[in-house]
Amino acid sequence: MKSWNVLVTGSSGLIGSEAVEYFDGLGHKVVGVDNNMRRDFFGPPGDTLWNLERLKNSTRQFTAVSLDIRDRAGVMALFGEHRFDLIIHCAAQPSHDKAADIALLDFEVNAMGTVNLLEATRQHCRDAAFIFMSTNKVYGDAPNEKPLSELETRFDYSDHADYEGINESCRIDRTMHSLFGASKAAADIYAQEYGRYFGMPVGIFRGGCLTGPSHSGVELHGFLSYLLKVALSGKPYTVFGYKGKQVRDNIHSFDVVRAFEEFARNPRPGEVYNLGGGRANSVSMIEAISRIEALTDRKVNWTYSEKARKGDHICYISDLTKLKSHYPGWSLTRNLDSILEEMVASEKADIS
Ligand SMILES: NC(=O)c1ccc[n+]([C@@H]2O[C@H](COP(=O)([O-])OP(=O)(O)OC[C@H]3O[C@@H](n4cnc5c(N)ncnc54)[C@H](O)[C@@H]3O)[C@@H](O)[C@H]2O)c1
Repeated sequence: MKSWNVLVTGSSGLIGSEAVEYFDGLGHKVVGVDNNMRRDFFGPPGDTLWNLERLKNSTRQFTAVSLDIRDRAGVMALFGEHRFDLIIHCAAQPSHDKAADIALLDFEVNAMGTVNLLEATRQHCRDAAFIFMSTNKVYGDAPNEKPLSELETRFDYSDHADYEGINESCRIDRTMHSLFGASKAAADIYAQEYGRYFGMPVGIFRGGCLTGPSHSGVELHGFLSYLLKVALSGKPYTVFGYKGKQVRDNIHSFDVVRAFEEFARNPRPGEVYNLGGGRANSVSMIEAISRIEALTDRKVNWTYSEKARKGDHICYISDLTKLKSHYPGWSLTRNLDSILEEMVASEKADIS
């Protein structure tokens, strides 16, 4: 197999680090760009340097570059230096709630940073597959318009036609996104445009809840990772609104990266895919708390606030039908129990 030159942005983050390890493991050369900006966004608990150190020890042909994707000249120079075959763009300000405090920075990183990378690709390696990690927040709160039933521990879609979840035809305008959802929507549209207008092999993946042991989970980002940290440390946790019955679908970072690989091998320019854990890996907040309590044998110290997060999804399950039909070689390999067990083991190892 031909060896690829792969660029991963956000390479010390949850998805970026999984991509680095995966493609390095296949024998490709990987350049990772990350300036540890997660620490600026979320303070010391968001620091990703531990993950960078881990990668340096676990990889063979990985080069780490501390570059800010907002630095257009720096990005262009990097693309001038390497001829990339695959670009996996995961660097972001990833928090829905944080964005309101840092509106300009959020836009510069999420929207402008993405355009810098798309344009550098067009100028230097326009045939390279480009993967943009987008988010289900581009749909804003439009998914909340689906008719819902309130069950004992979760909300669920009441119309059978919605059973598989939200598909890519959900509208992305005339809905409340949060500034984060809006800056990601701008980047998402730009990425589609580079695929459609320029015919470049760009794929857009709209993530549900992405998770795994390499998350530097903080209160404002990384739901399961943070909930586990809280469970094991005894710190307080607040559930915001909807009686804790809001539903998220969770996907392991490995399965996310496997979807990227399928796309990179057979790209379809400008296509958009929802990518999450689907119905099988969906869980409500209160169900997640019970499962984590059972797994850790500890009570989660949680309280309830009536005030829901603005623009929060009440029930979000990613419909994976399109992804599976375009890429039949892809499927979920980790169920929710195995994801949680792996994360508990990794958290416990960190504590001891
Ligand atoms: N984690 C989720 O639940 C989730 C859900 C949907 C979509 N996404 C999207 O997936 C992508 C990856 O998310 P993640 O969970 O791995 O996030 P993460 O915060 O763990 O990783 C992002 C990395 O990007 C780096 N970074 C931030 N700004 C940068 C900049 N200006 N220049 C260089 N590096 C920078 C950070 O230091 C961090 O290591 C993001 O685009 C995010 O919006 C994540």
